[in-house]
Amino acid sequence: MSNVIEMTHPLIQHKITRLRDKNTGTAEFSSLVEEIAMLMGYEALKDLPLEEIEIETPIETCKSPVIAGKKLAIVPILRAGLGMVSGVQALVPTAKIGHIGLYRDEVTHIPHEYYCKLPNPISERLIVVTDPMLATGGSAIAAVDFIKQHGGKKIKFMAIIAAPEGLKKLQEAHPDIQIYVGHIDRELNENAYICPGLGDAGDRIFGTK
Ligand code: PRP
Ligand code: URA
Repeated sequence: MSNVIEMTHPLIQHKITRLRDKNTGTAEFSSLVEEIAMLMGYEALKDLPLEEIEIETPIETCKSPVIAGKKLAIVPILRAGLGMVSGVQALVPTAKIGHIGLYRDEVTHIPHEYYCKLPNPISERLIVVTDPMLATGGSAIAAVDFIKQHGGKKIKFMAIIAAPEGLKKLQEAHPDIQIYVGHIDRELNENAYICPGLGDAGDRIFGTK
C-alpha cells in the first residue's frame, strides 16, 4: 500500500487505545482526537516546501527557512472530522479551513452531502482532509471527488482508524493522494462499523446519541 502511511509512533498507539475504550468520556475523547491529529499532522506535513528569507536576529542578518507558497487548507468531513481540525491548525495557524458536510445513511451506508464550503481558489493549496473514521470509504471518496471537482490537486487524507476494505477503495478511486492512518483495523461488521474500532466517532466527540 505505497500511498498509505500507517503511524507507528508509540504515543499515537497509546492514545488510540484510550480512544477505543468505551469508558473514555466525551471530554477526554475529544482531547485525544485533537492530540492524535496534531501528531499525525506533524508526520503528514514533513514534506512542506521551504524557502529562505532574510531576517535580522538581535546579533546579525541571516537567511532562514519559512514555509513556501500558499498556506494549506484543512478540510474536515463534518461532523467527526471537525474534532481533528484544531490539532492540525495548531501546527499551521494560518491554514484556511474548508468544510464538507456528509452523513452516512444508516441503512445503505451511502454518503449524502449537505454542505460544502472550500477556500477559493483551492488549486494551489495543499489540502489536508480530516475524518477520524474511514469505514466503507464512501465518505472519503465523495469528499476527495468533490475537492477535485473544485480544482484541488495536492490532497492528503488523514484518518485515525481505517478498515482495510475502505482503505483499498479509497486507494483505487484516488491513487494520487497520500493517506495517513493511525491504525488499520481488522474489518467492517454487517452494519459497516469498524472492528474493533471505537464506535461512532461523531457521537463520542460531541456527546450525542
Ligand atoms: C462517520 C465518519 C465518516 C464516515 C465513515 O460519519 O466520521 O465520515 O462515517 O464511514 P464510511 O467510510 O463508510 O463513509 P457519519 O456519517 O456517521 O457522520 P457524523 O460525522 O456526522 O457522525
Ligand atoms: N463511522 C464511525 O464513526 N465509526 C465506524 O466504525 C464507522 C463509521
